[in-house]
Amino acid sequence: MSISLCKIINFPTFKENRGSLSFIEGSNHVPFDIKRIYYISEVPKFSDRGNHAHKKLKQIFIAISGAFDIKLDDGNFSKVFHLNSKNKGLYICPMIWRRMYNFSSDCTCLVLASEKYHEDDYIWNYSDLKK
Ligand code: TYD
Repeated sequence: MSISLCKIINFPTFKENRGSLSFIEGSNHVPFDIKRIYYISEVPKFSDRGNHAHKKLKQIFIAISGAFDIKLDDGNFSKVFHLNSKNKGLYICPMIWRRMYNFSSDCTCLVLASEKYHEDDYIWNYSDLKK
């Protein structure tokens, strides 16, 4: 799996005087059926999250509020994305190491996932990913 498959997706958004509405349909606006949603918030300043890869899981990361940085690494190349829009999501394919950091105090990160939670889908050693 190559980092070149990981990309920003713009979600359809209706901006009106009465507010903004964005929507996401599984297998339409994102390249998988959505089986799980989770969200991360209240990350202390200077803390990071992630530091692992997934064997099969596909995900979309969205900064629903606030902002954070995420560094992706496929074992050969790495790339940093700054997520700060509720109208955009970062698609992450399987076998990509990720680290999330620089969370703003108001940040909530919403994650859409292609599978339910499976502990054995995690790769916790970067050297195992390289192999
Ligand atoms: P983890 O995936 O390590 O979070 P992050 O990648 O943001 O650092 O998950 C943290 C804890 O939450 C871990 O003990 C497993 C648990 N968890 C679930 O039970 N279900 C889930 O869907 C997720 C994402 C995590």
